Amino acid sequence: MSMQLNRRIITESPQDLLIQYGSEITQDPRFLALKDRVHHYNSNLYDHCVAVTLCALEVAKDLQIKVDPGSLVRGCLLHDYFLYDCHAKGHPWFHMTRHGMMAAQNAMRDFGINPVEADMIANHMWPLHPFRFPLCIEGWILTLADKKVSVKERFTKKKKTVLDQ
Ligand SMILES: [Fe+2]
Ligand SMILES: [Fe+2]
Repeated sequence: MSMQLNRRIITESPQDLLIQYGSEITQDPRFLALKDRVHHYNSNLYDHCVAVTLCALEVAKDLQIKVDPGSLVRGCLLHDYFLYDCHAKGHPWFHMTRHGMMAAQNAMRDFGINPVEADMIANHMWPLHPFRFPLCIEGWILTLADKKVSVKERFTKKKKTVLDQ
């Protein structure tokens, strides 16, 4: 598979890059189905993946790390691209360590990802799986952004409404 990587410092806004490189994915009905998947109690997988993508772009931009913007956006968007409910009873017990591999397979099947994107997605759960770590800079940025966003989602209380008492 030939691959054209264009690593450079990001100057555009994360929102613009998300639209430029991610619209094909974010508007796809198969990806939109992630909206029905609860994630970290207060979020859904769609919002989580978009938040991680924007966070990763911000990190790369702020630290002036040379990345391939297209791969960073697509790999981040698809990093949790699996459609089973990981909170449902009987979910695979190995979800925590294996879902990266499953997401990479799903992403390859549905969106035809490149090798950098596949590496990012398959290995984003480091260090939970200590011997599977990313081999590209985009993968390390995803790993960091995923942890950052996940902690925030997990510990941010859902806003109470009048209906909640
Ligand atoms: Fe994940
Ligand atoms: Fe994630």
